[in-house]
Amino acid sequence: MQPARRRGFADNAPMSERTIPIVDHRYASSVPQVPAHALAAGGLLSDRLGRPLHDLRISITDRCNFRCRYCMPREIFDGNYEFLRHADLLRFEEIERLARIFVGLGVRKLRLTGGEPLLRRGVEDLVAMLAAIRTDDGDPIELTMTTNASLLARKAAALKAAGLHRVTVSLDALDDALFRRINDADFHVSAVLDGIAAAQAAGLNPVKVNMVVQRGVNDDQIEPMVEHFRGSGAVLRFIEFMDVGNTNGWRMDQVLPSADVVARIAARHALHPLQAAAPGETAERWALDDGSLEFGAISSVTQPFCRDCNRARLSMEGKLYLCLFASHGHDLRALLRGDATQGVAAIDDDALRAALAGVWSARDDRYSELRGLAPHGDGERRVEMSYIGG
Ligand code: GTP
Ligand code: 5AD
Ligand code: SF4
Ligand code: SF4
Repeated sequence: MQPARRRGFADNAPMSERTIPIVDHRYASSVPQVPAHALAAGGLLSDRLGRPLHDLRISITDRCNFRCRYCMPREIFDGNYEFLRHADLLRFEEIERLARIFVGLGVRKLRLTGGEPLLRRGVEDLVAMLAAIRTDDGDPIELTMTTNASLLARKAAALKAAGLHRVTVSLDALDDALFRRINDADFHVSAVLDGIAAAQAAGLNPVKVNMVVQRGVNDDQIEPMVEHFRGSGAVLRFIEFMDVGNTNGWRMDQVLPSADVVARIAARHALHPLQAAAPGETAERWALDDGSLEFGAISSVTQPFCRDCNRARLSMEGKLYLCLFASHGHDLRALLRGDATQGVAAIDDDALRAALAGVWSARDDRYSELRGLAPHGDGERRVEMSYIGG
């Protein structure tokens, strides 16, 4: 067992929650309080900073077949690493139930992530269940997935048939030797490109391609990525390398600011900014003037976008996180299943809805805005990207 998994973590739950120290779990969590009175239907939900709830990102497995150094470094996520047991994962019915309740609270976009979501057996069935969810007005919900694409060529058509709308593929380099060093699992660029092509052919469009830019590691790939994806119909996104989790050895000097990325592309191509498509969007969007490429710059470090952050994250074992950098989860599985060890009984949909509304209403997370002011040094263990997805 990993030393990190044996450690008990400080429990910093808000006072409004029932707080139970958890000794043998990865991260601190607590069970949300269920308000005595059910929430009145129809009211617009917002958090303490006035932010609505719009996106739910659902991580469905903690496993991945890649070992990207910045996310699942091999020396930690090795043969001895204890991944979650299947019984600890939310079942598809439980995920669907929560997603449906979240949609009732305003969620309009669902994203499946991991780990690598395509490793979860029967993922197409889950997609079909989520695709059937409707808003109170009968509208469908945007349904998307973030994947490393290693299994996408095989699965794209089935995912589309099940009702997935589009995919986002992570690809940090086009140079094969470099890409293999980055994924540290001997996967070739060609497998990812085949996956992207299959997704496009299946109609999972627009396919977005996410590149995490690390200065001195893969920043020489920016221009080749632009050249490769011009005219392909895919949307490229350059992401500033972030200090997520505890294991990625992040340093500020590894961050290449988005402004530099845009300047490098502008040195070769005429380009113009695009209007934001939706409030709370992560990417600042650009297009080449010749219409051959749209790309986005995600400046989570140099220009944080917490002010409009409308994203909640659900882990594979049913903990809700209100920020990518959270160290504390809200244990929804205990409310779904009941948990005698925590003295909690299973509750119905109305009570769940009220509990979730209470959690979101109390939210005041804005880590990226505070990063410069109060660096993390408080001993709390933050969740890993492989645990709650991007
Ligand atoms: P689309 O609708 O497909 O554009 O989704 P999106 O803009 O939410 O993009 P995506 O899920 O692909 O996120 C892209 C990257 O942005 C992630 O891999 C993270 O690195 C980063 N990111 C996404 N959401 C957040 C967030 O809430 N906070 C921070 N700090 N970074 C985020
Ligand atoms: N900084 C920025 N993005 C990251 N991702 C994983 N770790 C980081 C990090 N430290 C991205 C991956 C993928 C998504 C799951 O999150 O590239 O696109
Ligand atoms: Fe897997 Fe994505 Fe993490 Fe790489 S970044 S190890 S592909 S989950
Ligand atoms: Fe949202 Fe947290 Fe990211 Fe800020 S740092 S944008 S609050 S997830």
